[in-house]
Amino acid sequence: MIEYELHLPLTLDSDIRNLMANAYGALLHEKERGVTGYYTLPEESMLLVQELINEHTFAPFDAIALYGIGGSSLGTKAIDAALRPIRQAKNIVYFENPDPRTIESNYRKLAGKEVLHVVISKSGRTIETLSQFKASLAYFGLDPKKDAKRLAVISDVDSQLHRFAEEFGIKSFAIPHNVGGRFSVLSAVGIVPLTLAGYDTAAILMAAQEMMERFWAMHEEHILQKAVFIARNWHRYPMNVLFSYADSLENFNKWYVQLWGESLGKIDRTGQRVGPTPIGHIGAVDQHSFLQLLMQGPKDKTVTFIKVEDFGMDAKIPDLKLPYLTSSDFVNDVSFATLIDAECDATKDALLHEGVPVDIITLPRLDEAALGELVVYYELLTSAVGALLEIDTYDQPGVELGKKILRERFADA
Ligand code: PA5
Repeated sequence: MIEYELHLPLTLDSDIRNLMANAYGALLHEKERGVTGYYTLPEESMLLVQELINEHTFAPFDAIALYGIGGSSLGTKAIDAALRPIRQAKNIVYFENPDPRTIESNYRKLAGKEVLHVVISKSGRTIETLSQFKASLAYFGLDPKKDAKRLAVISDVDSQLHRFAEEFGIKSFAIPHNVGGRFSVLSAVGIVPLTLAGYDTAAILMAAQEMMERFWAMHEEHILQKAVFIARNWHRYPMNVLFSYADSLENFNKWYVQLWGESLGKIDRTGQRVGPTPIGHIGAVDQHSFLQLLMQGPKDKTVTFIKVEDFGMDAKIPDLKLPYLTSSDFVNDVSFATLIDAECDATKDALLHEGVPVDIITLPRLDEAALGELVVYYELLTSAVGALLEIDTYDQPGVELGKKILRERFADA
């Protein structure tokens, strides 16, 4: 299980305890009223895993082309990137940004492969996703009817994309109505492509479910404590830096940035603009870029460290003494895992010394169990902060205007 350590200036007095109880009550209310459906996904999606294991609808494939953006790709990409170094899985090629260079490079990656094309969009209307899917149909010469077995759709059952799938006999998986994009990684959105790629999604869901159960049993109170600290202090500390000490967590950082950004950046019921800004960094690399700002810049940031206890790899720094290069000899014969871990601890101690509020998330291993738990941890934390800020955590009205302007630009042209 993951360990959580808080170094936040917060005294657990009756006021704080009341706020924690309020946040817990608000989340329970959301679950019971179905305000959001993500609370029950770990259990529900187990059935989906079974269905997929027995799935014979698709033509044989050795790579997946995934069309989706934001909540429809980031979670899958986060888990895929974190597990790929230690697992054998079919390649997933992501069509997210409509950057022509990336699209060309994706085509090259898929050349000569048997490809399953998976289109993921809850609304079924997202311009980046649909445009790239259409481009691939043309590029690979696919006919939706004749090649239905090479295609899959994941969408809301009321969407036009779902209707398109029905029309052409394409296998379609449903995203529950009450699960929004950024909370959907444990629904068909993430579970279908990850299972089809060959990952042990049952292990991810099991760990996610256990975390959920511990939270409802009040055994993960640190989540509520941290949520209270963030919600009460976001004016003083308007930024949270997630410093993850593993390269393969870079995409997890991006998922966290989206989860917080779209969920917590809102106008509250009194008309005030609220929301802590999420920032993602990778240690030790970003110690050489951002740390100076954290140490001596304005004290307006909290820092969360993610560290990995056992990388499952024992590459070592050799005991090699080279003339003129003796300054690094103090780590001779030390494993790289020990070095990166010690760098995380040293940075944490330095920040604590400067009085920066810090918390540490220690993963025993970077595996399915850790990722399932970590996803639920962040989802619950986000919901709890949103409840305390008295905002709608699950909508995103602010992104609509840009989409409207885009459509108008093309209509006017
Ligand atoms: O979290 C969200 O709701 C968004 O990031 C969406 O996932 C993103 O805009 C893509 O939307 P859709 O799944 O409808 O294509």
